[in-house]
Amino acid sequence: MTQHLVVPAQSARSGGGEPAPQRTGWWRDAVIYQVYPRSFADANGDGMGDLAGIRSRLPYLRDLGVDAVWLSPFYASPQADAGYDVSDYRRVDPMFGQLGDAARLIEDAHALGLRVIFDLVPNHCSDQHEWFQQALREGPGSALRKRFHFRAGKGENGELPPNDWESIFGGPAWTRITEPDGTPGEWYLHLFAPEQPDFDWDHPAVADEFRSILRFWLDLGVDGFRIDVAHGLVKAKGLPDLGMHDQLKLLGNDTMPFFDQDGVHEIYRSWRPILDEYPGERIFVAEAWTPTVARTANYVRPDELHQAFNFQYLATPWAAEKLREVVDLTLEAMRPVGAPATWVLSNHDVTRHATRFANPPTDATQIRTPGDRELGLRRARAATVLMLALPGSAYVYQGEELGLPDVTDLPDEVRQDPSFLRASGQDGFRDGCRVPIPWSGAEAPYGFGPASGGPSWLPQPAEWAELSVEVQSGDPTSTLELYRSALAIRAAHPALGAGDGVEWLDAPAGALAFRRTHADGAFVCVANTGSSPVRLALPVPGRLLLTSGEEPVREGEETVVPADTTVWWSL
Ligand code: GLC
Repeated sequence: MTQHLVVPAQSARSGGGEPAPQRTGWWRDAVIYQVYPRSFADANGDGMGDLAGIRSRLPYLRDLGVDAVWLSPFYASPQADAGYDVSDYRRVDPMFGQLGDAARLIEDAHALGLRVIFDLVPNHCSDQHEWFQQALREGPGSALRKRFHFRAGKGENGELPPNDWESIFGGPAWTRITEPDGTPGEWYLHLFAPEQPDFDWDHPAVADEFRSILRFWLDLGVDGFRIDVAHGLVKAKGLPDLGMHDQLKLLGNDTMPFFDQDGVHEIYRSWRPILDEYPGERIFVAEAWTPTVARTANYVRPDELHQAFNFQYLATPWAAEKLREVVDLTLEAMRPVGAPATWVLSNHDVTRHATRFANPPTDATQIRTPGDRELGLRRARAATVLMLALPGSAYVYQGEELGLPDVTDLPDEVRQDPSFLRASGQDGFRDGCRVPIPWSGAEAPYGFGPASGGPSWLPQPAEWAELSVEVQSGDPTSTLELYRSALAIRAAHPALGAGDGVEWLDAPAGALAFRRTHADGAFVCVANTGSSPVRLALPVPGRLLLTSGEEPVREGEETVVPADTTVWWSL
């Protein structure tokens, strides 16, 4: 079993019942924990997580040492895409609780010194949203239809979709409706599932509505928003054909007429002043899948959003040269706009990194085989310790601190991912990273909900009894204690956290080494991504702070770092 040093956890935050602390630029180095409400904690025992459950577990997050919590959507929704299909943006879905639960969650979090970020879904709503239902009723050319992308079909009788765009979840991005008089009618655009019609952001009512929604939650006290599909709101004028099939291959690699259009930036420039009116440095983080980190940097210009997930980093395999390249590209792209790099390894849309790294190297984010679990966990721990050493902010997805793998063998009949159900789409296996997390006990639901409650909405593997928070707490070799130590050291060490550069040191092939310097102390990180130990002649070795695996060995002037291990030193 691997070993790492445990440094006593030291809270960098003040407690008490006050509002969130007012540290300037807190988000420049914040560690933000993603809660997936369906799968975090189930207070009422219906097998589905809820806001009351999340509230009850906030002290765990404070003790873990994160700065903020981002919650995936919990709004009123028919759940065609696990809540990313919103039917009422100002209501909490009864399956998660009520508005009062959201307000109390924010209060409790603030009392613990944690900030709270909600998920805003502005690209599309649910087909059950009042506007869309009314648009269907009103007929072609009506006012409400103009808030969406309704078009006549092509072909003799309008039987073909208006253009050749494909849905991210598979199949055409258009669905034909039946008009109120019973005849086959117009088509509407949905980049995702047919239950998720895209808004037409050229319509002023759409923009007004979202400004009002922002204020609604800001008034409730939320500290910021993650913006879902931030790159999708504006479509190229005239909705031009792409002229090809298999368009998903282009995603993230090329410009598309429906993604990363320059017009989206105007929207964010109009949102920023609203956020800035509110006290307490509230923030926006963009979910923007763009072809390059340079394009991502456009979203975080000073008058736009604060952070944008670095998906290029997420998709980089565990290989030193590739990692170094993406770190350099990222820091170079962010420096001129003055935004922090925002590192992330896992979220609710991708295979957990413990499973990605258990499989042969790939830049794919969906993997369907468990691979070599032990190897995957060793690399995942090393990858996290590397990520937390990089300058900027970092996101942690619930359960990665327990070293959870993806559940790759869920039976098809329990899967709920709409792209799985549509069969041909991207990301069809996202349920595997959404399985409720184990807290305690020897039997399912492992403290996720009360033992007397119903089965969890996705079944938990029996092996997860060994991975629970209860089992891992206090075990210095556990992944949970590794995260706790890493976050405590990160908060306390002056050279860690915010910054816009690293100083690379010489390292043998397969490894990377860098120094970060601060007036009050310097820091060195070495990551060995190879499968055998590497020897390095490090400058003054300093004090060993943390290792993701076995301890490095000092041999004369050299330090030997074990395979698939990241090590931190203080100089
Ligand atoms: C984002 C969400 C994902 C969702 C999609 C459509 O990518 O992260 O879960 O399916 O948007 O809303």
